[in-house]
Amino acid sequence: MSILIKNIKQLIQVHENNITIVKGEAMKTLPVIENAYLYIQDDTIVEFGTMDFCEGIDAETEIDASGKIVLPSWCDSHTHIVYAGNRVPEFVDRINGLSYAEIANRGGGILNSALQLQDTSEDELYEQSMRRLNEIITMGTGAVEIKTGYGLTVEAELKMLKVIRRIKQDTLAKIAPTLLAAHAIPTEFKDNKQDYIDKIINELIPKASALRIAKYIDVFCEDGYFSVEDTEAILKAGKKHKLIPKIHVNQFNILGGVKLGVDYKALSVDHLEELDKKDIEALKCSNTMPVALPACSYFLGIPYTPARKIIDAGLPLAIATDYNPGSTPSGNMNFVVSTACIKLKMTPEEAINAATVNGAYAMGFSNMYGSITRGKKANIIITKPMDSYAQIPYEFAHDPIDTVIINGQVLVK
Ligand code: NIG
Ligand code: FE
Repeated sequence: MSILIKNIKQLIQVHENNITIVKGEAMKTLPVIENAYLYIQDDTIVEFGTMDFCEGIDAETEIDASGKIVLPSWCDSHTHIVYAGNRVPEFVDRINGLSYAEIANRGGGILNSALQLQDTSEDELYEQSMRRLNEIITMGTGAVEIKTGYGLTVEAELKMLKVIRRIKQDTLAKIAPTLLAAHAIPTEFKDNKQDYIDKIINELIPKASALRIAKYIDVFCEDGYFSVEDTEAILKAGKKHKLIPKIHVNQFNILGGVKLGVDYKALSVDHLEELDKKDIEALKCSNTMPVALPACSYFLGIPYTPARKIIDAGLPLAIATDYNPGSTPSGNMNFVVSTACIKLKMTPEEAINAATVNGAYAMGFSNMYGSITRGKKANIIITKPMDSYAQIPYEFAHDPIDTVIINGQVLVK
């Protein structure tokens, strides 16, 4: 199967040589070929260039992209799309004045989602989660990290991992599975958090590892959840089983989790709505990707991650949705790219770099995803007609996408 996309107004994020991360000042550059073509064979990007060099290329499928922008699919490196039901009543409670913390403290929040998930069969959970995944694929996402964390028992966390495994087998999107059993302290361990941590370390991590169904280990390192010491114990146990850390840190408080993540060679540290100089210094001496989640800040009304401080310090930055039922019931990366520009003051070039190559890096996939490079996977967005790629974030909350190609297959929207 071959596809030729012709007359592309702007082919963006196009790299002759492979690129796996973009940092600091370089994030301001987004390579473009004007009036371009792109040739795909099976699931792979094979050739591209200006239309002057397109003559003589035959393909089974031809797409005319006149007036349109072509770019690599979004790489969403932080989601919790496997969940049951929703938390609409808590949304209304927050509108009426309760805070996220107040709702959690009275047994709502993550614990509410855990009760709903424990009561849902694996098949039903798979159906609900697959619907969410299929929706975000139509919105341009081609690679997704998916976390557990709404099980909070060994059995229910493994059920979540099995659902993620089934999704991974059945979808054309690329999936990264993460074990986030340390997402909240289950009610039955309210007065004995250590017992739950011991269960994660001694039972859950070894079981997940034996089944080979998780690649990453995550902890919600936050006041009222897991301390830096708890986080360290869990990361240590994960590392023994070759699980790579990707952690929730600095959402509400600075506890020192960023430095810990760096020390444990975390692939990413995510949230960072609160960030100090020490955190920036720690990140400078690392290969850890900072990840901002602007749609979470938008939904909860909490501060936005200081992207300018991060990028201006020469660091890389990725952006992701955080799609989950509590803090971000949206998986729309187009909105995340817009919000990164509007609220985090990132340029369109920086936001698109953050949502493609750096997002892929934060999942360990940037060798094969995140740029238009020969040999990389054919996960492609073709936009509606527009003046330039900056119109993608400019027309916030619009749908900029005309066609999606995922793993070399044209998706009918
Ligand atoms: O990333 N902060 C922790 N976890 C999620 C929210 C989970 C929830 O409220 O269900 C987040 O925002
Ligand atoms: Fe999250």
